[in-house]
Amino acid sequence: MTLQIKSFEEYQKAYQNSVADPEAFWAEQAETFTWKKKWDKVLDWDFKGPDVKWFVNGKMNITENCLDRHLAERGDQVALLWEPNDPSDEVRSFTYKELYAEVCKAANALKANGIEKGDRVCFYMPMVPELAIAVLACARIGAIHSVVFAGFSAHALADRIKDATCKMVICSDFNNRGTKHIPVKKVVDDALAMDCDSIETVLVYKNGDEQVPMQEGRDKWWHDEVNGQSPECEATEMDSEDMLFILYTSGSTGKPKGVVHTCGGYMVYTCYSFRNVFQYQDGDVYWCTADIGWITGHSYIVYGPLLAGATTMMFEGVPTYPDAGRFWEVCDKHKVNQFYTAPTAIRALIAQGDEWVDKYDLSSLTVLGSVGEPINEEAWQWYYKKVGRERCPIVDTWWQTETGAIMISGLGDHSPMKPAHAGYPLPGIQPCLMNAEGEELEGNDIEGLLCIKYPWPSILRTTYGDHERCRQTYFSAFADMYFTGDGARRDKDGMYRIIGRVDDVINVSGHRMGTAEVENAINEHSMVVESAVVGYPHDIKGQGIYAYIITNGPVDDEDEFRKEVLKVVTEEIGPIAKPDRIQVVSGLPKTRSGKIMRRILRKVASGDMANLGDTSTLLNPEVVEEIKTGAEELR
Ligand code: PRX
Repeated sequence: MTLQIKSFEEYQKAYQNSVADPEAFWAEQAETFTWKKKWDKVLDWDFKGPDVKWFVNGKMNITENCLDRHLAERGDQVALLWEPNDPSDEVRSFTYKELYAEVCKAANALKANGIEKGDRVCFYMPMVPELAIAVLACARIGAIHSVVFAGFSAHALADRIKDATCKMVICSDFNNRGTKHIPVKKVVDDALAMDCDSIETVLVYKNGDEQVPMQEGRDKWWHDEVNGQSPECEATEMDSEDMLFILYTSGSTGKPKGVVHTCGGYMVYTCYSFRNVFQYQDGDVYWCTADIGWITGHSYIVYGPLLAGATTMMFEGVPTYPDAGRFWEVCDKHKVNQFYTAPTAIRALIAQGDEWVDKYDLSSLTVLGSVGEPINEEAWQWYYKKVGRERCPIVDTWWQTETGAIMISGLGDHSPMKPAHAGYPLPGIQPCLMNAEGEELEGNDIEGLLCIKYPWPSILRTTYGDHERCRQTYFSAFADMYFTGDGARRDKDGMYRIIGRVDDVINVSGHRMGTAEVENAINEHSMVVESAVVGYPHDIKGQGIYAYIITNGPVDDEDEFRKEVLKVVTEEIGPIAKPDRIQVVSGLPKTRSGKIMRRILRKVASGDMANLGDTSTLLNPEVVEEIKTGAEELR
């Protein structure tokens, strides 16, 4: 089993070794897995291409490591535990033996439906066990999964299906979230009507009693296809560098891009980081509240925990249903040991009052995790005191879809802890801070642009179908470095504090959004001439979305217009991209070369109007006053 660090001294030693001889360090970790053929070379890399290969020519299958290799020792231990949306519905659980059989059955069903190694399979699923089972089934036969968060619109889904030319969609008929019973098959039908010609089959998991239209020849029920299949399916031999999955994420320009992760390195590093950050011990129950539609769910609900032989819990519902005590009720009910969630959920629950958390027995908890956005001091303190009862370390885990796994974080109780600081890099991770001139900032107590100097096993390999975009986005800003897009501070003790994005990406409730993407959606409204979207501080969401819009004529009813804009954005992207504030303006502040001065728009949006800096060089300084007045009225 992957090594587990047991003290800060051990961490320091491991870190030094990982930097002094990265290949030896990672070879030692990789040895603990099942390989069909061992690698010839640990690492081949250059960041110019970029071209990074880990465990070169190694052959394996990640599901043999998630499932088969645990059967002898822990076949009867629960692998996957599922808590339903409605607490009165039955909990479902799968031992490693049962999960193995279910995954094999599903893999055989995929094969029977023409899915082969290298084919792309798109998911649009609720948080039910079949989602994890089907994801693993893809990996079992070498099909590439592309999971799309089921809150995205038909448009967004169609874009992703087309970009990856997926052959199959796996979805449900309905999704249950809180009091909502959402007919999602309809979203899939709408998406497929948008020229998704590559789709041959839709597998529909039955999650409701009502009828849904099924298209003859294309749509099939999951249970019809899976139930009769054999519970054995040989794992397809994969090269370390074969694609494991695609996951779409937003950037500062253009449409979301498909981040590509490969098999070998991702396997080694997700397991290593899981074991060390959460300090999982045999018999523990681990719960990550993320959705598998995001990278956190991929790496820390499915792959990391199963690779480590853990009991991982999946939750179908929302933190506030049936009441604001649900998270804690579930922790109490299942005696959860490690709990991993996002600051936005914590802030939403703080607002509901302490009585919801105070009444539960949370003594099983040992480690609390935070992910997705900076955790503010108030949320940190509440999490530490109210949830952890001042007994549990908080691991503030910084990472990204592109990094595949946790990069900077405490390791359970073995690291110094400071509110709002992610802390020290994991072994194998070599972060640095750069200035805008491309110089590395040495020493401590310093702030700069966060880069990574050396490859780690789960680094993204490309962006699907567009390698140049990958190079441009991550490897061109600084020579021979991966640029994260985040600004960070290294304090006097060398601990990192993530400040936030320095590009045009905003982080709304831990969901990553490109401002350009939201603007493009808004611009679809027939009355919109131009728009500019910025983030602003939001008490619960971390950042809210503020849209400035120029229209092609007077707006008679601004409230009505705002509703229409929200509708367009919901159709184009999904409800998570809806602007919180919309201000109609007659112009946007622009430089003489026609570039929007977002700095000014950000300040106005955040209410910091006194300090706009020099606006005299603008092409149209007069609009600034108008925008300020309009913003005051909107607040
Ligand atoms: O800005 C950072 C923020 O989330 C971004 C990555 O978003 P995404 O790819 O959706 O992955 C989220 C889950 C890993 C980062 O560039 N971020 C993530 N974790 C933290 C964070 N910001 C501060 N502290 C964190 N712990």
